[in-house]
Amino acid sequence: MLLNRRQCLQAGWVAALTLALPWPLRAAVVSNTPPRSEFDGDSTAEEVTAGLNLSGLTIAITGANSGLGLETLRVLAMRGAHVLAIARTREKAERACAQVGGHTTPLHLDLGDWESVAACAEHIRGMDITLDGLICNAGIMGLPELQRINGIERQFAINHLGHFILIRHLQPLLMAAPQGRCTLLSSQAHRRAENGIEFDNLDGSKHYDPWVAYATSKLANALCARALAARMSDSRATANSVHPGVIMTNLGKHLPRWQQVAGEYLGWMFMKTVEEGAATTCYVATSPELVGVRGYYFADCNVAEDEGYLYDDAMAEQLWQVSTELTRDYLPTKNA
Ligand SMILES: NC(=O)c1ccc[n+]([C@@H]2O[C@H](COP(=O)([O-])OP(=O)(O)OC[C@H]3O[C@@H](n4cnc5c(N)ncnc54)[C@H](OP(=O)(O)O)[C@@H]3O)[C@@H](O)[C@H]2O)c1
Repeated sequence: MLLNRRQCLQAGWVAALTLALPWPLRAAVVSNTPPRSEFDGDSTAEEVTAGLNLSGLTIAITGANSGLGLETLRVLAMRGAHVLAIARTREKAERACAQVGGHTTPLHLDLGDWESVAACAEHIRGMDITLDGLICNAGIMGLPELQRINGIERQFAINHLGHFILIRHLQPLLMAAPQGRCTLLSSQAHRRAENGIEFDNLDGSKHYDPWVAYATSKLANALCARALAARMSDSRATANSVHPGVIMTNLGKHLPRWQQVAGEYLGWMFMKTVEEGAATTCYVATSPELVGVRGYYFADCNVAEDEGYLYDDAMAEQLWQVSTELTRDYLPTKNA
């Protein structure tokens, strides 16, 4: 739509007046309706962050040593951010940092060892930094057999509950930052959780299907972003979730061998590259266009359609309460 001269002048005045306001008032007038971005499924992480200067920002990311996490780490560091690169071991985190250069700090946790998650979060809190971003990226997919951690199905325990503990510890830091952002890696695979989160089957004892369990954990990531966003709405902090696309990474290591080989040889026809796969995360975590945008699920650098249970606030709230119960021993005693 083309604007005429009068409309251009009006828009210019509104923009100038908005920018002249003190920050708290400005935040209040910025719409939290996400704009349509100029990027799409072919955009890369470098493209969506081109021209951004992230120096002065500190952003933590889990799963920083592999696949999408490593590319996200590389690009955020390249744009000047101080990135807290969290991997499963200190060695893996150090290797990732050495690989990408820039200002990075290696940290470690095992999302299946909730004691270690709380310890890593406390370490970050003790660093005396402003935490501008937390990217909950680490994940596992499609475990062929039912496994449990602390009595809970393993994919839900790692992909959702491990990150839930991290989030609960770091939420006060995000809320204290000038514009803290939490970005959670979900997946369009959430659609296979046709009954939503089955709260009476979190241990997998009623039934277990590797893909429904993965889907449930990824639906939980999206709903967690929504519940967190609601809890941070009286601050400048935001939370959103993303589907990165379908990308050939180590995530497929539990797939049958023939599917891995098929992916290697035929995947180029329908999969994104790792550079493209990290784009939506980088866009949501850094784009100035998304100030004040919270509670949305993005794909291909834009808000995806309202589908399934993604925006089911009652389910999101129940998930938050149940997750709190399940992880109570590992949460901060006071969430300031
Ligand atoms: N690739 C896709 O097509 C796709 C599609 C939709 C959503 N996603 C999501 O994107 C995210 C990144 O996946 P990716 O494709 O980049 O996979 P990836 O290459 O396998 O990376 C996964 C990362 O998670 C880490 N991780 C796994 N278990 C962990 C644990 N217990 N504690 C700490 N870290 C752990 C891995 O560490 P190790 O290297 O030590 O195992 C690795 O760094 C995941 O959340 C995934 O669900 C991916």
